Order: sequence, then C-alpha cells, then structure tokens
Amino acid sequence: MPANIVVVGSINMDLVTTAKRMPSRGETILGEGFHTYFGGKGANQAVAAARLGARVSMVGAVGSDAFGTEYLEHLGTEGINTEHVRTRSGVASGVATIIVSEGDNCIIVTPGANATLSSGDIEKSRSLLREADVVLVQLEIPAPAVEKVLQTAEEEQTPVILNPAPMQPLSPAYWDKAAYLTPNEKEFERLQEEWPSIAGHRENVVVTKGAAGVSILRADGRESVIPVRTADVRDTTGAGDTFNGAFATAVAEGMPLEDACWFANAASAISVEKEGAQTGMPVRAQIEGWDL
Ligand code: RIB
Ligand code: NA
Repeated sequence: MPANIVVVGSINMDLVTTAKRMPSRGETILGEGFHTYFGGKGANQAVAAARLGARVSMVGAVGSDAFGTEYLEHLGTEGINTEHVRTRSGVASGVATIIVSEGDNCIIVTPGANATLSSGDIEKSRSLLREADVVLVQLEIPAPAVEKVLQTAEEEQTPVILNPAPMQPLSPAYWDKAAYLTPNEKEFERLQEEWPSIAGHRENVVVTKGAAGVSILRADGRESVIPVRTADVRDTTGAGDTFNGAFATAVAEGMPLEDACWFANAASAISVEKEGAQTGMPVRAQIEGWDL
C-alpha cells in the first residue's frame, strides 16, 4: 500500500530569469534566459512525494487564468488528486518572480489565489485529512488556514509535518501541534523567537542546512547531523520542497527519523541538478541508486 499524503499549500507559476549575477538595487542588467516552471511550495512538495510513489491529494487554490488551468492539468499528469484544489474566479494564480544566478536564487512571491485559502476550505477537506497517513503543510498560505489544518488533523489523529516556510507567526499554541517541524536555518532562528522553548524541549525538529545536510534536534538537547553529498548544483529552487515531500513520504511509510532524513537528503541533492523546482525531482529508483 503506498503512503497516503495530503499536502495543503501554495500553487505558483515560477517566472524564472537567469543572469550572470544578481542585479543590485536600481541597476538594470541583461538576463541570459527566461523560463516558466511549475512551482509553489505546496505543489512542489506534492509533486516530490508523488514521484517517490506516495498517493497524494492536494488542497489549495488557483486563479481562473491560463496558469491555473495549466497547473491543474500538470498536477493530474503527476498523478495527484486535485479534487480539493479550488479555482477562484476573477483572481490571479500565484506567481513567483525568480532570479537565478550562480546556482543561487532571489524570489518574490505574489500569492494571488493562494491568499484566498480559508479555514472553511480546510473544514471541507476534513475527511481527506482523516484518511491521510501524514498531512504536510507550509506557511505560503494564510495563517488561519494553517492553524485550521493543525487543529483538524489533531482532531482526526493524523500527524502533521509543518514546514515553516516562508516563516510567518502562528498563534503560539499551534506550533506544538505539529508532529514534525522542518525549518531551514534562518526559519529556525525565527521559530525560536516565536517559540523560545523549542530547542531542547521538542522531539522531531529537523533543521535543513543546504549542502551541510540536516540536524535532528532532540528533546534532551542532543543534536545529530545527517550529511548530504551534493553533486552538480544547477538550481537550488525547490530543494527544500523536495526534502519535505520526500521526508513526508518516508515518515508516512513508517521509516525511522534518521532514515527518513537520509532518504530526503538524497532526493533533495538529486533535484538541484536540473533547472526549475520540479524538473529534477527524482523517482524512487534514482534514490535507490544514489551514492550517499
Ligand atoms: O520553495 C520554492 C518555491 O518558493 C518556488 O517554486 C516559488 O514558487 C516559491 O513559492
Ligand atoms: Na531544481
């Protein structure tokens, strides 16, 4: 039986310009290329999990524009259930304006339809959350929707992986409802400001550190590092999302925490070898053949 995962989150079209270097404020430079890619942290994580063999349902919203139509079709092609992706009339789909330079990126996200996802929408997806092995959610949708996910999943006894990206405050009681937290280093600093007792008091905090791998923080203050081998880095956009989608798949399959981190590290390392957030996301066999 494949793992059953529900991803609640954002759906963006990524408008990507590549350039030799980042422009500085007020400066105009020539770009080298322009591409559109499927993106958005929620949809990226859903695709990462689906490629690795999970059964994935997505909860989110697109606009009533060409990007929205194209995106729904794409999710279907990836084998993702889109019955709970709403189309908002008169609203634009989410877009991310991205500059990629020297393997790094700068991003402006314009939420559009993602900003309309409400706690009422989550309530309508309650049975989906009940039937899931794991729910995966990020912070690129409004906080009330995220809080409702944490609340509903708790009521339905489904564990939640909360990827606090991009970091935004939630009501304090909600952080602790997540079974797993997966901030990157910067988000972890912010999370500690929001929730000072997190370090040394919480299990299942996994801090992603790019090329340095991940740190698993333990309630007793111990920290274990799971390294990663990166290869030919072309575009790190979506690397964290690949980690989260793969991590959710592994956790839903019942893998122990450290094994789940090895698995997700490999997926993320493979994904950065191709341009765009989703293009390089691996299928299962690629991970099994990956030399850690
Ligand atoms: O995490 C990467 C994603 O962040 C991009 O795909 C972009 O859409 C932004 O949401
Ligand atoms: Na990539």
